[in-house]
Amino acid sequence: MSKGLGGLRSLDLAVRSRPHYPDCATSPKEQSFYMCKYLPNSLKISKRVAGVEYAIRDIVLAARKVQQSGMKIEYLNIGDPVQFGFQPPENVVQALIHSLKNGGNYYAPSEGLPELREAIAAKEAAKGLSVDAEDVMVTNGVSEALDMIISSVVEDGDEVLLPGPYYPPYASYVRLRGGVPVEFAMDMERSAPDIDDLVSKITPRTVAICIISPNNPSGVVFDKKSLADLVTIASERNLYLICDEIYDGITFDDEFVGVGSVASSAPVIVLNGFSKVHLMSGWRIGYIAFNGASPQLQNIRENLPKLARVRIATSLPMQYAALESLRGPQEYISEFVAKIRRRRDYVTARLNEIPGLSCAMPRGAFYAFPRIEDCKRRFGGDRQFVMSLLESEGVLTVHGSGFGERYGSGHFRVVYLPDMSTLESAMSKIEKFLLNNSK
Ligand SMILES: Cc1ncc(COP(=O)(O)O)c(C=O)c1O
Repeated sequence: MSKGLGGLRSLDLAVRSRPHYPDCATSPKEQSFYMCKYLPNSLKISKRVAGVEYAIRDIVLAARKVQQSGMKIEYLNIGDPVQFGFQPPENVVQALIHSLKNGGNYYAPSEGLPELREAIAAKEAAKGLSVDAEDVMVTNGVSEALDMIISSVVEDGDEVLLPGPYYPPYASYVRLRGGVPVEFAMDMERSAPDIDDLVSKITPRTVAICIISPNNPSGVVFDKKSLADLVTIASERNLYLICDEIYDGITFDDEFVGVGSVASSAPVIVLNGFSKVHLMSGWRIGYIAFNGASPQLQNIRENLPKLARVRIATSLPMQYAALESLRGPQEYISEFVAKIRRRRDYVTARLNEIPGLSCAMPRGAFYAFPRIEDCKRRFGGDRQFVMSLLESEGVLTVHGSGFGERYGSGHFRVVYLPDMSTLESAMSKIEKFLLNNSK
């Protein structure tokens, strides 16, 4: 082994942690996020990046190790329909190929292909938002949209309200910009935000409220009244209302209601994309749609396009494919939803039959978020629960605290996208695991 590599290995063992965090990091959790691990002789990296975590993918590293020991793993951790056999329809694939073969291989306009912006505006207008093509910006997935929005609104010490539990990158991007994520409670049984809790957490440092409906990881879907309440609070308190509607086509019980239908002239920003409903996760297309009726969004609308120009553009062939997915036949979406509805019903029923677990019925998306009774005492916490389940039964889920310490702890997330036989086997293994650890 070369001297350099050997050196690195021993440095690895000698990782030293030194507390060093900005003033905005007030809680121990915040401080540990910013705490930088220093490898002697290794070049410096920023403190903020050193603390980034992404529970959903980080857990896969542990699964690989278990797999190497020869155990079969049931992957119930990743919310990607395409990895479970669902594929974009043929007309969409052909639109991509057509672009590739007919010269559509250059830098697209930074804000997005005009025809696609129009089609997106038409989709969002049909959901009730006051929007035209000029109000839309195409991004590399909702992930990039979120990065751009948070970079545009958050400064050191600013607070952003997130639904508890939340999709983890919301907190990561807020922290990366020096902000502080603050969780507000959701009532999972009623599928609604706890408005009193949310209002009690607004401070002079609050800059935005984020909502995710349908929600990852809980499957909660907000109704019109809840959305209207949130819109009123955001307008009156001068806060951005950032609404992630990436699962808008995946609801099971009630028809989806978009925030646009109650947005009026409030500072509402909708984030959406093609990864879930349109089965194009690997193609990385998403968008931002601003409420065109909101004067409070003027500043961000003028400045955010600079970020779009700095990163040049989103892939042009993928934008043609996204355009086709909006304009072409839509039946594939209802077929997809019908299949996963059966899986949701099955998984939720099985989880609720297992002693020590209880699970609210998810109303949208493709996740169940069961609560583990007496989790801390019996397992030492939800992270340990997930690790033991993985190591003893080979079922990979995600620990609830990865979706927010406050409201996610004591839960775990199950993706119900796999086929029925995989789900049957996984549910039986989870049942066995809990029965074996019933004390
Ligand atoms: C709520 C939510 N928003 C955004 C994303 C990521 O979206 P994209 O693939 O468009 O970056 C996910 C993926 O799991 C998600 O659950």
